Formats: sequence, structure tokens, C-alpha cells
Amino acid sequence: MTSTRPSVVVILAAGEGTRMKSATPKVLHAVAGRSLLGHVIEAASTIEPEHLVVVVGHGREQVIAHVEEIAPWALTVVQDQQHGTGHAVRVALDDLATRGIALGQGPVVILTGDTPLLTGHTLVGLLVDHSGTQASATVLTARLADPSGYGRIVRDATGTVVAIVEQKDATDEQQRIDEINSGMYAFGADRLAAGLARLTTDNAQGEQYLTDVIGLLRGDGDIVSASVCPDPDEILGVNDRVQLAEAASILRDRINDRWMRAGVSMLDPASVWLDVDVELQPDVVIRPNVTLRGPTSVASGAVLGPGTTLAACEVGPGAEVIHTWAELAVIGEGAHVGPFTYLRPGTILGRGTKAGAYVEIKNSTIGDGSKVPHLSYVGDAEVGEGSNIGAATVFVNYDGVAKHRTVVGDHVRIGSDSMLVAPVTIGDGAYTAAGSVITDDVPPGAMAVGRAKQRNVAGWVERKRPGTASAEAAGRANDVQASTEHESTSPDPTT
Ligand code: UD1
Ligand code: CA
Repeated sequence: MTSTRPSVVVILAAGEGTRMKSATPKVLHAVAGRSLLGHVIEAASTIEPEHLVVVVGHGREQVIAHVEEIAPWALTVVQDQQHGTGHAVRVALDDLATRGIALGQGPVVILTGDTPLLTGHTLVGLLVDHSGTQASATVLTARLADPSGYGRIVRDATGTVVAIVEQKDATDEQQRIDEINSGMYAFGADRLAAGLARLTTDNAQGEQYLTDVIGLLRGDGDIVSASVCPDPDEILGVNDRVQLAEAASILRDRINDRWMRAGVSMLDPASVWLDVDVELQPDVVIRPNVTLRGPTSVASGAVLGPGTTLAACEVGPGAEVIHTWAELAVIGEGAHVGPFTYLRPGTILGRGTKAGAYVEIKNSTIGDGSKVPHLSYVGDAEVGEGSNIGAATVFVNYDGVAKHRTVVGDHVRIGSDSMLVAPVTIGDGAYTAAGSVITDDVPPGAMAVGRAKQRNVAGWVERKRPGTASAEAAGRANDVQASTEHESTSPDPTT
């Protein structure tokens, strides 16, 4: 892309985004796990500009910090007061000049920070059209069933673009034009500068419109052209929460289509929400209501859902994860997780493990083939291979001040309802008795019993609760027992 490589891409993102009614700057709202601005930067980077400039204003501290995080190679320029899109571009170009950055031969591309559905493919098309027509300016346009709110593309009888008219400045006739300005353009650098220098604020909004540069250049006899975007979704600008949701659902469908074509089954794609950084192998099956966030990866043969949210997790081949909420967890090959399981950061489940119903695991490694089947909390622990953690076991990891670790060896059997009070180590092959509170280390192969010895107070109910259903039931049972004892003690007539 030598001839069309842009010298600079300028992304306009200084506006307030009032209609979002948010404390968060508009361009930092996210869809599919990436900010609106992040999506635009991603599209812009596919055309490899020599420089990428983001114009910031409202919420600048947050926006600048975000840009430094996701695109440290980009420059940010502050537009203190928002005097219009033309003013914003001039501020950006002036800033480059002040920094001693000379623009190369390539075009200047202008984008807006709130169009998350824009693709690099469309920008390549814009650049190809721009260089093909040898235009001074090329506008990315679209035809919309409802063009209201957008600037309209005015063409002459020969079809040549002559001007862009803003909705608020348009005549009734112009308002009927269905071809709209996306707000994205490619310009020859010198001609753009020449146009910007002549902008006025003589319009309905009292702003310096970038769109007026088109009419000015046309008046100079320059070639001005339009690149019509075949998919109007790509230029959808997010101005409020309704459009944010609309963009999210279009992006969801795009992402899901791509994965289904790559061999992933989805039983109900409309209820599957995948972030852009998710990686899936062929033959993954996704059941309804699944959300995969951040850099989650899922290997072949794994089955997810229904009702599962995984954030930054790694799921091994053939694992099954049902009705689960997990974050920063590794789920090993063939593991079974759920239903109703909560895996917190630092959970590592080995191959063939099980984390069953109402189980919470945090910062713990569960060795290959080990199982935590029911109603348990495992925190700050290392469990070896082939061990079983009985129902309702709690790893008591917190003494109110500090967290402590528990180590459970290989082939251990933890009895149901055990409390393992950390720090504590259960040796290989050891057992603990059900209902034990284990406070001391258990040597390999030992049976640890940590519970009060049972005592039965005979006849207590009939004495203390006479006349109750319990006392009557006990009475009947005692009568039956007495008579069978009598029979078994009488001599058997057949022998
Ligand atoms: C603009 C176009 C319109 C087009 C529409 C597409 C102009 C005059 N009009 O209208 O033809 O159909 O986009 O969405 O350009 N911004 C700044 N600094 C400013 C003003 C705006 O950075 O001083 C940024 C905004 O944050 C936004 C973008 O520029 O990202 C567009 O500004 P906005 O005020 O939303 O323009 P529109 O009225 O939508
Ligand atoms: Ca807008």
C-alpha cells in the first residue's frame, strides 16, 4: 500500500456525547469488549498510517489515558473548545506542525471516534477510490432509508459531488436526499489545509464545519468524489444508549457469523456474546445465553452453556461448562464444571476434574482427575491428583487478618462437611472423617477424625416431649423393635 498509505489518520473525539447521559466519555463506552474509540483505532491501523492522531476534549484525562493504554503509538491532541469538526482537524494539523512532524505524500484520513462498526476493508476502499479518481477530497457516504440528522451529499446533474449540507442548514429539497455524509474522508494534505484556512462559522450551529471544505475545494475546481459504503451499518455513529445497543447487536452477529463459519456451533447465536479477543477452535459447541469476555480461549470439543459467562478464561479440549460464572480461570481438558459453579481468579482445574453444583473455587489448583462435586468452597489451595473433596467441605482460608494456604495430596478422600482450617496439609492417600474440623496436618495414609464423639440419650423424646408426633412415632418404633427382639430370641420351630 505505498501509493495510498495515509500520512496521517485523524480521529475526532473531542465532543461531549451529551446524549449518552454518562460520566464516562462517549468514545470510552464499549461494545464486544473494546471501546468505541478502540474499534476505530483498530480499523485505522489496518491502513497503516504514518501517524495516528486522536483529537480529545471532553473527558480528556480519561480518553488520553485510554489511548496511551491501547495504542501507545498514537498521538493525542487537545481541542480545548469544540468550535466544530473543521476546527478540530485544524487543531490536529497545527499540533503536528508544532511538533515538527511534516506530513508525507499520502492522504490525510479523517474519522470519528464513535463508529465502532467501521472496518479496515472499507477504509482501504476509500483510499483506493481516492487515489483512483485523483481527487483532492473523497467523502465516505452511504444511502440510508432514514437520512435525518446527517449531512446530505449534494451532487450536480452529472452526478459530481458539489457540497455537503448539514441537516440544520438544508432546504426541504436537500433534506430529501438519501445519500449522507459518514463524517469520514480522505484529503490531499495541501488542499485540506487550504480549505480549512477559509472556513467560517456562518451556519446554523455557528461552527467551523469540516464539511464546508468540500464545497470550497469544489469551488476551486478541484476534483471531489464520493466513496459509497455498501454496508450502511459501518458508518453507524453511536450517540445514545439505544444506538450503543444497536451497534453491539450488529457486532455480535458479525462476530458470531465469523466463528460459525470457522466451525463453531451455536444453538442460539442471538444469545451468544463474544468479545473481539475471544479465540475458539473448530467443534466448540455454544449453547444459549453464553458470554465470553476478554481474551477467553476455548479448545476443540468443549461445550459451553447454557447460561455461562467466562472472562479471560482458558477452556481445554472436550471440557463441559454449564451455568457457570468464571473469571481468570483455567479449565482443563475434559473437565466438568457446573451447573451453578463460581470460579474466581487463579483457579486452575486439571484434566478430567470436576467442579460441581454450588462450588466456589478461588486461587487454587485442582490436580488431574480430582473432584469437588457439591456445595464446597475451595480457596488458596493446592489439591493433588485423584482426590475427592466431599460435599459441603470448606477450605477455611481466612483468619480475619490473613489468608492461608491448604495443601491436599494425591488420592485423598476429604469426608463430607469437613472444615480444613488453613494453614494445613493433608498427606497423600489420607482420609478425613465426615464432619471433621481439621486444624492439624494429617500424615499420608492417616484417617483424621476431628469431631465430638456422638452420645445418644435413650428415651429423651418420650420423656421430654410426651404426646408429640415424634414421641408417638418413637413409641411405635420401640414397640416393633421389642417384639422383633422377642421373636428372634424364641426358639425356631423348624430347626
Ligand atoms: C458530522 C458531519 C455530518 C455527518 C455526521 C456523521 C460536520 C459539520 N457534520 O455531523 O455531515 O453526517 O458527522 O456522523 O462535520 N468533534 C470534535 N470537535 C468539535 C466538534 C466535533 O472533535 O469541535 C467530533 C465529535 O466528538 C464527533 C465528530 O467530531 O466525534 C462529529 O461531530 P458531531 O458534532 O457529532 O457532528 P455531527 O453533527 O454528527
Ligand atoms: Ca455525530
